[in-house]
Amino acid sequence: MKIYGQPEKSIRQAVASGDVTIAVYGLGKMGLPLAAVFADAGARVIGADIDESVVATINQGICHVTGEPGLPELVERNVDEGRLSATSDLVRAAEAADVMIILVPTLLDDDNNPDMSIVQSVCRDIAKGLDPGDFVIQESTVPPRTTRDMIIPILEESGHKVGDFGVAHCPERTASGRAIIDITGAYPKIVGGVDGASTETARSLYSTINKKGVIAVSDVTAAESVKVFEGLYRDVNIALANELAMVCDELGIDAREVFDAANTQPYSHIHAPGCGVGGHCIPVYPYFIINTVESSTDMLRLARRINDGMPAYTVDLLESALREIGAGISGARVLLLGVTYRGDVNETRFSPAIDMINELKRRGAEVFAYDPVLGSGVQRFGAIPSDLNSIDSIDAILIASDHAEFKEIDWDLLGRRMRHKVVVDGRGVLDPEELRLRRYLYRAVGRP
Ligand SMILES: NC(=O)c1ccc[n+]([C@@H]2O[C@H](COP(=O)([O-])OP(=O)(O)OC[C@H]3O[C@@H](n4cnc5c(N)ncnc54)[C@H](O)[C@@H]3O)[C@@H](O)[C@H]2O)c1
Repeated sequence: MKIYGQPEKSIRQAVASGDVTIAVYGLGKMGLPLAAVFADAGARVIGADIDESVVATINQGICHVTGEPGLPELVERNVDEGRLSATSDLVRAAEAADVMIILVPTLLDDDNNPDMSIVQSVCRDIAKGLDPGDFVIQESTVPPRTTRDMIIPILEESGHKVGDFGVAHCPERTASGRAIIDITGAYPKIVGGVDGASTETARSLYSTINKKGVIAVSDVTAAESVKVFEGLYRDVNIALANELAMVCDELGIDAREVFDAANTQPYSHIHAPGCGVGGHCIPVYPYFIINTVESSTDMLRLARRINDGMPAYTVDLLESALREIGAGISGARVLLLGVTYRGDVNETRFSPAIDMINELKRRGAEVFAYDPVLGSGVQRFGAIPSDLNSIDSIDAILIASDHAEFKEIDWDLLGRRMRHKVVVDGRGVLDPEELRLRRYLYRAVGRP
C-alpha cells in the first residue's frame, strides 16, 4: 500500500498488517537493525544490499552484524515468519516497495570533501523503480541541502516529480552496540520532509516504532542539519575539554575533578578529555559543513585541529614519563591496549590508536597491541599482535580504547613482567591511586 500522504491511522494499520512494503538500502550496522525493527512492527521489509554474502546470510535468518543485543533474535524471527528478506537486486527492491529507506555509508574523500557517491548510486537505482505514491526516506548522515540539491534531481530522473512521490530526511540517531534501544525509543526521531505531506507521512511511519515520539522539523534541510550539528557540538565540546585538560596539565590540577565540579552547574557540560576523537561520525561531520558552506567555520576547524593533535600529545606524555625514569622512547617496547575507536565496538575508522601507533613508531618505539575485539587484526595497523599473558619486558602501556576488559586487569601481575612500570591512560578509565599504589608511573591527559 502506498502510504505517502495517507492519514496516520491508515499508515499505522498498513505497518501492523504488513500491507506496506519497505525497502531498506544498506544492511550494515545501522540499516539491518532498522530493517529488523520495521519487520517486527509488522511491515514487509526487503533489505537491499550490494554485498551478496550479506544478502545470503540474512535470507538464512542469520545476523552478520555483531555486538547488537537483541538483533540476532529479531532477524531470525522476522525472516522465519516471512516479513524480512534480502536482495542484491536494488532496482527490483524499489519496484516492489512503497517506501525506500537509504542507510548507506557517507564518507570523505582524500581532501576531506563529502563523498556522497554511494547515496547517489542508491538514488539512481531507486529512480529506476520509482512509482507515483512512493515515499523515499534518507537516513544516512549528509551535508545540509543534499536532499534538495542532489537526491531530488536524481529521483526526478524517473520522470516523476516531487509531489507525485514523497521525500523526507529522517536522520539515524543510533550508536553501535545500542541500535535497537536507540531506534525504538532512546531519543525522539527527527523527521523533515520536502513538503507537508512528506513530513506528516514520516511522522506517522516512525511513530509506529519509536516510543519516545517524533519531532517534525519544518524542512528537510533542517532535519539534515540536526544530525550534523549534534556531531559538531560533540567535536567542539571535546576539543574544549582537551584544551582545558592540557591547561590543567600545566597548572598541575586534575581536569576531571574540575570538570565534574563545574558540571554540577546546569549551564556547564564539559565533556571528557582524552587521546583523540575517532569513529566514522564525529571526526567526519565537521567537514560536511566546513567544506560545503561559505560562512565562517573557524571554530569547527580549530576543534578538528585540537582533537587531531591529541594522539601526538598523548605520546608526548608517554615519552616524558619514560624520560622521567631515565629511559628513552627510541627502542622502548610499548604495549597499546585497544585499537578500536570506542570500547567493545568493532570499528577502527579514524581511531586515534592508529595515529598513536604511527607516532610511537616514528619516534623509534617498538609497538605491540592487544585489542580483545580485533585479536590479531591489530597487525594491519602496524602493531605486533600481543595479549596480556604473553608480554615481556614492556617499558610502557598506553590505554587507547575503553574496552570493559581493561577494568579487570591485574596490574600486580602485569607489572611483574614489565621492564618499566609506566602507564599512560589515554581514555581516563583507570584509577590513578590504584596504579600509584602498585608503583606505576601513571599519566593521563589532564591528570598531572
Ligand atoms: N555505525 C554507527 O554507529 C553510525 C552512527 C551514526 C551514523 N551512522 C551513519 O549511518 C550510515 C550507515 O552506516 P553503517 O554504520 O550502517 O555502515 P556499514 O558500513 O555498517 O554498512 C553499510 C552497508 O551498505 C551496503 N552498501 C554499500 N553500498 C551500497 C549500495 N550502493 N547499495 C546498497 N547497499 C550498499 C554495504 O554493503 C553495507 O552492508 C552512514 O551514513 C553513517 O554515517 C552510523
